[in-house]
Amino acid sequence: MDKKTRMIVDKDIQIAEVDHRMYSSFIEHLGRAVYNGIYQPGHPSANEEGFRMDVLDLVKQLHIPMIRYPGGNFVSNYFWEDGVGPKESRKTRLDLAWRSLETNEVGLNEFAAWAKAAGSDLMMAVNLGTRGIADACNLLEYCNHPGGTYYSDLRRSHGVLEPYGIRTWCLGNEMDGDWQLGKKTPVEYGRLAAETAKAMKLLDDKIELVSCGSSYEAMPTFPEWEAITLDHTYEYVDYVSMHQYYGNVQQDSADYLAMTMDMEHFIHTVVSVCDYIKAKKRSKKQMHISFDEWNVWFHSKDADDDTMQNHPWQVAPGLLEDVYNFEDAILVGLMLITLLKHADRVKIACLAQLVNVIAPIMTETDGGVWKQSIFYPFLHASLYGRGVALKPLVSTTKHDTIAHCDVTDIESIAVYNEAQAELTIFAVNRNLTEDIVFEADLRSFAGVQVLEYLVLEHDDLKAVNSPAGEQVQPKAKTAYQLEDGKLESVMKKCSWNVIRFSLS
Ligand code: AHR
Repeated sequence: MDKKTRMIVDKDIQIAEVDHRMYSSFIEHLGRAVYNGIYQPGHPSANEEGFRMDVLDLVKQLHIPMIRYPGGNFVSNYFWEDGVGPKESRKTRLDLAWRSLETNEVGLNEFAAWAKAAGSDLMMAVNLGTRGIADACNLLEYCNHPGGTYYSDLRRSHGVLEPYGIRTWCLGNEMDGDWQLGKKTPVEYGRLAAETAKAMKLLDDKIELVSCGSSYEAMPTFPEWEAITLDHTYEYVDYVSMHQYYGNVQQDSADYLAMTMDMEHFIHTVVSVCDYIKAKKRSKKQMHISFDEWNVWFHSKDADDDTMQNHPWQVAPGLLEDVYNFEDAILVGLMLITLLKHADRVKIACLAQLVNVIAPIMTETDGGVWKQSIFYPFLHASLYGRGVALKPLVSTTKHDTIAHCDVTDIESIAVYNEAQAELTIFAVNRNLTEDIVFEADLRSFAGVQVLEYLVLEHDDLKAVNSPAGEQVQPKAKTAYQLEDGKLESVMKKCSWNVIRFSLS
């Protein structure tokens, strides 16, 4: 073993405070996310409102600050009024996005109560696909206006006396996509989003708004979409959205784990476009990024196409039920490190999604809940990645893959939590064939001691968890040395490493 990575972490060399919303997630009315996911009346663990407490308990473990809702593609033809008021008079609708039936048993008020129980704020999306400015304002009035007007009093008549005060709102979803109901050209979207934003901020000047960016980096209209839409929306919005899913479609694991280089490039390009528009407008405002959909998504695609084409119009069909393996968890860890490396511009990030649909948490309709492999890197980052992201000076060996050159063997970031007197290093060895010596120089921190060293490692890249048990779960590591503020350990090939230090 002759490969070595050296990392120097200095508490004064900082990227930015990590916004707590970096560890947000997403629940869409899609597949078994809501129905037979978080909500299943009649299940032994369901409460009086029909929400499964076993699911809620697991969600709470992740400490999710904010949950995006109700879509996704679903929102682009959603009539939110269908989901409020007495349940017995709610209508069943065709959900054209996922070719399913939406019973509207769960709507805004039920979901808001569930999110509150989970300890999460709501990030609400408005329908700018098949609806427009007035409907977005009506929804905002229903949610945030105290009372004395048509929609605020309607909310009160539904038993919700206090306004929700929902702060963060998405102006539609993936409006550049052919698959989107009410797809727009960049000029159409830019104009509609700007006018909707203007009206919404007149109604409630405390809200923050997210303008839709491209659906993913390979969209043919990227990055012209960002340039044109932000030209219209820049002064009215606070964030531009980014979405990205990766998958090992080619069954080339080395190249798969290099894909966060593309994510880096994607973020750099979006930041550059934002700053170009800022300069063009002579604006003082800094645009931030809401990376409000990110994850691995590819395992279930053929099955989903079959369900939607050949077996449409079911209530809560099993859709997007990717079963994640060990290497997917490593990629999720790499995506988290990439987000943290850009904590100066990425303020919101939503792991898409949360339950049953491309999710860390799965439910058995006739049984319990179980944790997918990706649950763990997200859990570790959410628990220990709070504080200031530090800019590490890293020298690491590199390798090439079929589509990527100079792929770093070790990717790493450190987060300093001054209030808790803790420092955490997150590191992935994405070299699939070689263990690597890892040295961290922490001499700028006084009294550094290892609190805990967790690793996710497995000899089988394709190992998965299931209701029967967890093949992929973290273990404590004891083989390391710490002397005079310098840590040395061996990072196993293809591993996720979390090294927590206490500071005096
Ligand atoms: O998260 C699944 C889907 O992915 C969302 O509905 C959509 O926004 C994206 O294409």
